[in-house]
Amino acid sequence: MEKFFNVAGPCHPAKHYMLPATERLPDVMRLIRQEQYFAIHAARQSGKTTLMQGLVRDINASGERVALYFTVESVMAYPDPHDGIFKIVERMRSDLLRHPLFGELVRDPNAPVPQLLPQPPDMGVKVLLSLLAEKAGKPLVVFFDEVDGLTEGTAVTFLRELRDGYITRETVPFPASVAICGMMDIRDMKAKVRPHSDALGSKSPFNVIAEDFTLRNFTKEEVERLYAQHTAATGQAFAPGALDLVWEYTQGQPWLVNALARECVEKNPQLRLFLSDHRRGHRHGQGDDHPP
Ligand SMILES: Nc1ncnc2c1ncn2[C@@H]1O[C@H](COP(=O)(O)OP(=O)(O)OP(=O)(O)O)[C@@H](O)[C@H]1O
Ligand SMILES: [Mg+2]
Repeated sequence: MEKFFNVAGPCHPAKHYMLPATERLPDVMRLIRQEQYFAIHAARQSGKTTLMQGLVRDINASGERVALYFTVESVMAYPDPHDGIFKIVERMRSDLLRHPLFGELVRDPNAPVPQLLPQPPDMGVKVLLSLLAEKAGKPLVVFFDEVDGLTEGTAVTFLRELRDGYITRETVPFPASVAICGMMDIRDMKAKVRPHSDALGSKSPFNVIAEDFTLRNFTKEEVERLYAQHTAATGQAFAPGALDLVWEYTQGQPWLVNALARECVEKNPQLRLFLSDHRRGHRHGQGDDHPP
């Protein structure tokens, strides 16, 4: 498949020019090996989802652990935990419907088309995670995206269930690592849930979060490497000085870097000034995106 600069949602290595997502936060794998819980926060459109989905692929490919990715984005509108936790569990179960290992836990075996079993009453996030951890047969790593979109009682209950499961995980199966991800850092998340968590006292659900990572923008060298992928694939080189301009304009913000490249390459003829066509066959040099 011909790759392109992606500006619509998470990147996939088979389809898009991209920087290896997991290299952006190498420390995350250290925490996963230590079976810790952690947070990842970064600005909009900075590559959070791409990173988590990349980690899930890498972890599953390595065979030592099982990894799952969930987003709780659609639960934003349910501040009451009775509805909110139900919605999170429903969302997780429907994502698992076709999963080769976990599908049978949630699927009606008699349905001709895969269909969710009715949700057992009282099934919370903790109960479901416990079942998944038991079924996994290996350490389970779970990524929750868009957690800062959860509100009020739902946010508090969700985090408290993670904390409860973490604390008893030596005796009751529970994920070895959980990552919560969003735009807010842990301090802001604490401030957000505090008014709704009076009953928590000192048992802050955040106590189990060992580290809070952030994703930085791409460096200039990384932008150069990304753009060089297009040159290597097509022979079309970026004009001298183009990279400086891109850098000045984007400061390495991941989406902007891609949007500008896409604009140059695919859409805007004026911006073709940026490019000089050197279609003399394919070049494969990394970082060598200037024509001679
Ligand atoms: N590893 C990468 N290499 C190159 N570009 C990337 C990479 N990761 C992200 N991008 C760029 O950033 C955009 C957004 O990626 P992604 O959806 O993963 O970010 P996000 O932080 O989850 O966004 P949101 O805050 O909207 O959920 C992509 O469409 C792409 O343009
Ligand atoms: Mg995202």
